[in-house]
Amino acid sequence: MRKSFWDYFYELKQKFPYDCVGIYLGLQPGLVVQSPDLARKVIVDSDSFPDRFTYSGSNGDPIGSLNMFVCKGKMRKHIQQVYSPIFTTVRLKKLTQLMTVNGKDLTDKIQRDFVDDKKRVNLKELMIMYVSDTLAFSVFGIRLSVLKGEDSPLWQITKHITKCNFMRGFEISSIFFIPSLAKILRMKFFSGPATDFLEKVFWSVVKIRQETGEINDSDLVDYFHKLIDKFTANGYEDNTSKNLMLAQIGAFIMAASETSTVALTYCLFELAYHQEEQEILYNEIEEALRKSGKDILEYNEFLELKYLTAVINETLRKSVPMQHLDRVAIKDYQLTDKITVEKGTPVFINVAALHHDERYFPEPNEWRPERFLTSSEYDNLHYSFLPFGDGHRACTGKRYGMLQLKIALSQIIHKFKIEPVMPYNLKSDPYSVALAPIDGASVKFVPR
Ligand code: HEM
Repeated sequence: MRKSFWDYFYELKQKFPYDCVGIYLGLQPGLVVQSPDLARKVIVDSDSFPDRFTYSGSNGDPIGSLNMFVCKGKMRKHIQQVYSPIFTTVRLKKLTQLMTVNGKDLTDKIQRDFVDDKKRVNLKELMIMYVSDTLAFSVFGIRLSVLKGEDSPLWQITKHITKCNFMRGFEISSIFFIPSLAKILRMKFFSGPATDFLEKVFWSVVKIRQETGEINDSDLVDYFHKLIDKFTANGYEDNTSKNLMLAQIGAFIMAASETSTVALTYCLFELAYHQEEQEILYNEIEEALRKSGKDILEYNEFLELKYLTAVINETLRKSVPMQHLDRVAIKDYQLTDKITVEKGTPVFINVAALHHDERYFPEPNEWRPERFLTSSEYDNLHYSFLPFGDGHRACTGKRYGMLQLKIALSQIIHKFKIEPVMPYNLKSDPYSVALAPIDGASVKFVPR
């Protein structure tokens, strides 16, 4: 924790520019894979590497132990079968309408606080608010908005998750990298009070809907509620089914909060220093709105915005929110002629290194959206581009996450010009496992 995990993985490749390198996590040897070919082998072999290395929680921590991100073995396969597909195109179209409302709240806050009142922008804090509001609205149907200064119940949870202090950093670092210590110290992904709070919020929304007879299929309340019956039909007891459902909501909030916040922060930061690219993006959005004849864009129209996707992808390449993917070998595995990965060994895929490898991305420290103009949104470029991971443990929220980013960026760029206010050099926070700028990063918003 003297340096961020992002810097650690990045510098590891600079110091040891090989396809793979051994490390020690305390007494535990591990392997870091740094070439697309070896990354592919580990990612696609779901028989040898079905699980993450991450600590998978204790019985007293239902959200930490039953969520899809950390869950292992058969239980995880069951969850995946019952849970997916959550983000169908029909559902994403409905979610677009909800997030568009959050996007408007975001641009209103920017106008109010940072243009009219001339306050200093802390991009990370601002983006946590937007991400929290989108989660409250799309997962729970809660319209109370922290961006509007209202008392959003979800904000109590998201602000805790994304807080970087030493103790939280130590807890999350141990969960990811020293699971044996996390087990001894009974560490938790979600604190006890946060778990109770989440449960209370969910059930109170369900109760109100049952009492009022309101049916709202735009958000995910009904989808998650129905999961309980599906888990029960798969042989789980009622109480376990309820905990399983709640754990997936917890994972949703955890997985979406950090990553999307960081991605948005870095996108806006890069755009401030790349005025030419910002204008190309503005023109693309302006043209799409003109064609649509409306003042907002819909799901299908977002699919046409190639430059916007390229801006996001290039940011996810250069400043990838999760610098590594983790797996653990459940049997001995012959990785190369010379290397056998022994059963129980953690394997980390060094995504920061792949994304900064000159062979695949020339001048990797340059931010150039053009790199991604010819590839599709879902192309992993032969395993050299892995911001959402890949294979059987790939990110389940990718489509939701991309949508959340596109809606916020398109609304901001259409209303404001973004200008730099600080040196073009963001230091990453050593207390955060995911990438996070140490002081939140800042830009200036100028109305168009
Ligand atoms: C920009 C936004 C996001 C980024 C960059 C991101 C990135 C990632 C990465 C790198 C992984 C690990 C993949 C692997 O090991 O191969 C992951 C897993 C996961 N993500 Fe995301 N994510 C994002 C948004 C979301 C959202 C919005 C959700 C909400 C549903 C989500 C849910 C998950 C879940 C449940 C997993 C675990 C999948 C499994 O282990 O089976 N993510 N994400």
